Amino acid sequence: MSKKYKIAVLPGDGTGPEVVREGLKVLNAVARSCGFKYETEEFDFGGERYKKTGEILPESAVGDLKKKDAIFLGAIGHPDVKPGILEKGILLRLRFELDQYINLRPVKLYPGVDTPLKDKGPKDIDYVVVRENTGGLYTGIGGFTMKGTEQEVAVQSMVYTRHQVERCLQYAFEYTRKRNKNNTLALCGKTNVLTYVYDLWVRAFHEIGKKDYPEIKREYYHVDATCMWMVKNPEWFDVIVTGNMFGDIITDLGAITQGGMGIAAGGNINPEGVSMFEPIGGSAPKYTGKNVINPLAAICALGMLLDTLGEKEAAQKIEKSVIKVTGTKLKSLSAGKMGYSTSEVGDLVAEGI
Ligand code: IPM
Ligand code: MN
Repeated sequence: MSKKYKIAVLPGDGTGPEVVREGLKVLNAVARSCGFKYETEEFDFGGERYKKTGEILPESAVGDLKKKDAIFLGAIGHPDVKPGILEKGILLRLRFELDQYINLRPVKLYPGVDTPLKDKGPKDIDYVVVRENTGGLYTGIGGFTMKGTEQEVAVQSMVYTRHQVERCLQYAFEYTRKRNKNNTLALCGKTNVLTYVYDLWVRAFHEIGKKDYPEIKREYYHVDATCMWMVKNPEWFDVIVTGNMFGDIITDLGAITQGGMGIAAGGNINPEGVSMFEPIGGSAPKYTGKNVINPLAAICALGMLLDTLGEKEAAQKIEKSVIKVTGTKLKSLSAGKMGYSTSEVGDLVAEGI
């Protein structure tokens, strides 16, 4: 008998619920087509709940989520709530407490999708960023002294342990090997200025690579140069591994080269635990409830979720159907300009399956 997957659904804020709905529509279609079973449980974490109850995450949240096979997240961030409260209190807290130490962000241009990169097409833009997801500047170590005075000091430290760096690199090497495209892993750092943190990364990178992954070619780029080459020569990249802050920044750049936030998906992965998948764009509050937001990023995130659960065929079916929709139907990936509504795009992908 096949397994029944337990999937937690966190629609979240803004347009999150609208794109999640389309993701679940596609999940329903692909489960029937591939013959696997699942059950979903919805959690209402987000800005509205916080405004009503004052509670950001209930005590039981992490324990409840740990019992699931995977988490499907819409978006976190509410215009009436001060920036940082929900992001730190929900999204980052879940990444940390579930120890989702990898943020996996494919940068792949699908046929029919416009890229702002001149003369580049789907064969040029197809790489994956492995972003470390629980350490670095996101650790939250720091503080103020003399706040509000002329002498005010603010500190926020980039903290990495050898253990955090090693497990991230190990995942990245392993992923590069499995992907088996160019067998090239590029480390993105800043060894000319961050001479402690990225020195540790570089040493661990070469030690692990030399010892356990001799067939994987190792490259190093400073983060500023990485941005330049992601624009000028994206075809150079196969897999890029980097720390948390740089990964956050370069994946927005990567996302715009693959057609923008309407299509960019990511996974917060704990290879030994429960992983959480999300469209990487925000909650886009100005489009809330209008049925105009692009659900493809959420649908692609769902594809990544199924791939991680081992439902490879389902993930491939979703990707194929998305490619058909981007290649033959949508006029644009931008909200309101697709030529279809949010729910119609979901229907198209589901029908394609
Ligand atoms: C992302 C987002 C988050 C991050 C924010 C919302 C905390 O930008 O997932 O990339 O910085 O990681
Ligand atoms: Mn980001």
